[in-house]
Amino acid sequence: MMNNDQLTQEILRLKREKNAVILGHYYQRHEIQAISDYVGDSLALAQEAQRAEADVIVFCGVHFMAETAKILNPQRQVLLPDLAASCSLAESCRAEDFARFKAEHPDHMVISYINCSAEIKALSDLICTSGNAEQLVRSLPPDQKIIFAPDKNLGGYINRVTGRDMLLWNGVCTVHDAMQAEAILNLKQQHPDAPVVAHPECNPALLAVADFIGSTQAMLRYIAQSASRQIIVATETGILYQMHRLCPDKEFLTLRDDKSCACDDCAYMKLNTLEKLYLCLRDGQPEITMEPAMIEAAARPIVRMLDLSRQLGLIK
Ligand code: 13P
Ligand code: SF4
Repeated sequence: MMNNDQLTQEILRLKREKNAVILGHYYQRHEIQAISDYVGDSLALAQEAQRAEADVIVFCGVHFMAETAKILNPQRQVLLPDLAASCSLAESCRAEDFARFKAEHPDHMVISYINCSAEIKALSDLICTSGNAEQLVRSLPPDQKIIFAPDKNLGGYINRVTGRDMLLWNGVCTVHDAMQAEAILNLKQQHPDAPVVAHPECNPALLAVADFIGSTQAMLRYIAQSASRQIIVATETGILYQMHRLCPDKEFLTLRDDKSCACDDCAYMKLNTLEKLYLCLRDGQPEITMEPAMIEAAARPIVRMLDLSRQLGLIK
């Protein structure tokens, strides 16, 4: 059994030997973020996967993210350290049910949050992430009817800020949905000067008490420019690694500090460990494999998202 230092050395050696790149999401374990070549939110990681030239992409995130990497760069071998790293949002939306729902609303365009399976992407007209959802929706004609899937919290938030009336699929991120506004209010009472940052996957009651709502990347930008010394954070705890790196002098308070809630770890994200990362590089598996027809169908709305995001100046 190797310790973390030995595992890290072996991962770096295997990475060179196999010409691999490691992409890591902000919610990954701290030691995985520390060894990743690129750490980002789901939008930035999709872009990074698309332009990757390494033979192997090791995706340290959840299944839909690794699948997106394969869809955008099918020539590469894409590995996910633990294939069971799913997502409650992706699981809430099964292709058969969604196809039926879509057929009931033939005059609606379908926008799906990237947190969904390739099958759902293939049934969609446009993909979005939490980093571009609001701007993409705003760019569409006001009378365009829209189905938004699978996150009713993100969709509801976009409806409120844009005044739209998108039809929402009834899915949630079980991690963000369980975070309680009361716990945030308790923390606010003890730290009245601390602003609250929240991910838009949180429930509407929690979002109502947030000072800033945005994707993981947007929250990091916000805390870096904030003058406050203390900040209350309503999102998955993996992000604290980057928050402390960016702002070592600031204090970040989470729902754990209220003691009423220890719900801010995503069990799926945390399935990836340094040891599984080492094993997957060593063994070249678990690998993401997909039928070429599915890759082609799912790529269309993702590429449309990336093109539109570039046109809107949201990404380079
Ligand atoms: P981001 O798009 O902010 O990276 O969020 C991904 C995610 O899974 C949030 O739970
Ligand atoms: Fe899915 Fe929520 Fe985990 Fe993100 S935090 S991967 S949305 S279950």
